[in-house]
Amino acid sequence: MAQIFDRSSNALARMSLVLTGLIVIALGVTLNELQRSPWVTRQGQRADQPVPFSHKHHVQGLGLQCQYCHTSVEKSSYAGIPPTKTCMNCHAQIWTNANLLEPVRHSWETNESLVWTKVHDLPDYVYFSHEIHVSKGIGCSSCHGRVDEMPIMYEQNTLQMEWCLNCHRNPEKNLRPTGEIYNMAWTGPSELKPEWCAVKKNSQAGVPTAQDVTCTATDPASSGGAQLASMQMLPVGLHGQATARDAGGMAVPATLHYEKFNSQEELGKFLAGQYHIRTPRDLSSCEVCHR
Ligand code: HEC
Ligand code: HEC
Ligand code: HEC
Ligand code: HEC
Ligand code: HEC
Repeated sequence: MAQIFDRSSNALARMSLVLTGLIVIALGVTLNELQRSPWVTRQGQRADQPVPFSHKHHVQGLGLQCQYCHTSVEKSSYAGIPPTKTCMNCHAQIWTNANLLEPVRHSWETNESLVWTKVHDLPDYVYFSHEIHVSKGIGCSSCHGRVDEMPIMYEQNTLQMEWCLNCHRNPEKNLRPTGEIYNMAWTGPSELKPEWCAVKKNSQAGVPTAQDVTCTATDPASSGGAQLASMQMLPVGLHGQATARDAGGMAVPATLHYEKFNSQEELGKFLAGQYHIRTPRDLSSCEVCHR
C-alpha cells in the first residue's frame, strides 16, 4: 500500500503529541497557579463596601476593642459583624452630616441592615470556629494581620488548606497567652523581651486550661516580690486561692510559680502542654476540618 504519510509526517505526529502533552501540563500548572492567585483567593483585595469603614481610625485612632463590634468572637464560631445600632452609638452624635455615613443613617431610619461584602469566606464544606482558636491562644493578628493598620479591610492570608495546615502542623510558633489575643503587635518573647508565665494550680477540674495560664512581661520576682512574700504568709484557710483578688485584696498572684521564657519556641512548647493542644498528626487529619 502506498505510503500516505511520509517519514517526516510521522515525526511530526510524534512531535505534536509531545507538544500536546506539554500544553496540557502547562495548562495544569497555570490553573493551579490561578487557583492560588490573589485573583481567585481574593488575598489582599479591597472589597466594595456600602461605607468605607476604617479599622485604622476606629481601632488605632479611637482605641476601640475588637469585641466592641465583633461581640461573639470568643464564644461562637462566628466573630459577627456589628449591627447599625453599634455605629449609631457614636454616629448619632459624631459626623452626623457626613455624606460617607448616609448609608448608615438610611439603614437606621429604615431598619434595613447594611449589606457588607464578606472579605473572608471559606467554602461551606470547611468547618471553622473562632471560639477554639481564640481560647487556645491564637491571636486575631496571626490570621488577619495588622487590622489596626488597615484603612480598608483586606484578606491578609489565603485561607487555603495549605495555610491552615501550615499552622496545624506546628501550632507552637503561634501560641500566645490568652491575655494577648487582641494585641495586634504581639511578636512573642525574646532574650531582650522575656515573658513570665505561671499556672494557677487551683483549677477546679485539676487540669489547667488555657485560661488558667497567666503571663506577664515584667519580672514577677522584682516587681511583686515583696507582696508575693507577704501573700505566702496568708492564713491556712486561704490556701488554694489563686490570686489575692479572689480573697478581696490586691490583684497580685499569691502562690504562683513563674517560669521565664526567652523565645517563642520555649513559650510555644510550654503553652502547647498547658492548653492540651493535640498532636500535629491529629490536627491535620481530614475530619478536623471536613466533617
Ligand atoms: C467600630 C466597630 C469595629 C471594631 C472596633 C472592629 N471592627 Fe472589624 N469590622 C467592622 C465592620 C463594620 C466590618 C465589615 C466591613 C469591613 O469589612 O470593613 C468589619 C470587618 C472585619 C473583618 C473582616 C470580615 C469579613 O468580611 O471577612 C475582620 C477580620 C475584622 N473586622 C477584624 C477586626 C479586629 C481584629 C478588630 C480589633 C483589632 C476589629 N475588627 C475591630 C467593625 C469593627
Ligand atoms: C466609639 C465611637 C464610634 C463608633 C462605635 C463608630 N464610629 Fe465611626 N467614627 C467615629 C469618630 C470619632 C470618627 C472620626 C474619626 C476621625 O476623623 O479620625 C468616625 C469616622 C467614621 C467614618 C469617616 C471616615 C473615617 O474613618 O474617618 C466612617 C465612614 C465611619 N466612622 C463609619 C462607622 C461605622 C460604619 C461604624 C459602625 C460599624 C462606626 N463608624 C462606629 C466614632 C465611632
Ligand atoms: C485561626 C485563624 C483565625 C483567628 C485566630 C481569627 N480569625 Fe477571624 N476569621 C478567620 C477565618 C478563616 C474567617 C472566615 C470564616 C468563614 O468564612 O466561615 C474569619 C472571619 C472573621 C470575621 C468575619 C465574620 C465571621 O465570623 O465570619 C470577623 C469579623 C473576624 N474573623 C474577626 C476576628 C477577630 C476579632 C479575631 C480575634 C479575636 C479573629 N477573627 C481571629 C480566621 C481567624
Ligand atoms: C495560626 C495557627 C492556626 C491557623 C492558621 C489555623 N488554625 Fe485551626 N487550630 C489551631 C489551634 C492551636 C487549634 C486548637 C488545637 C487543639 O486544641 O488541639 C485549632 C483547632 C482547629 C479546629 C478544631 C476544632 C475542634 O473543636 O475540634 C478546626 C476545625 C480548625 N482549627 C480549623 C481551621 C481551619 C479551617 C483553618 C484555616 C482556614 C485553621 N484552622 C487555621 C491553630 C490554627
Ligand atoms: C486545618 C483544616 C483542614 C484540614 C485538616 C484538611 N483540610 Fe481540606 N480544606 C481546608 C480548607 C480551608 C479548604 C478550602 C480551600 C480553598 O478555599 O481554596 C480545603 C479544601 C479541600 C479540598 C477541595 C479542593 C482544594 O484543594 O481546594 C479537598 C479535596 C480537601 N480539602 C481534602 C482534604 C483531605 C483529603 C484532608 C486530609 C488529608 C484535608 N482536606 C484536611 C482545610 C483543611
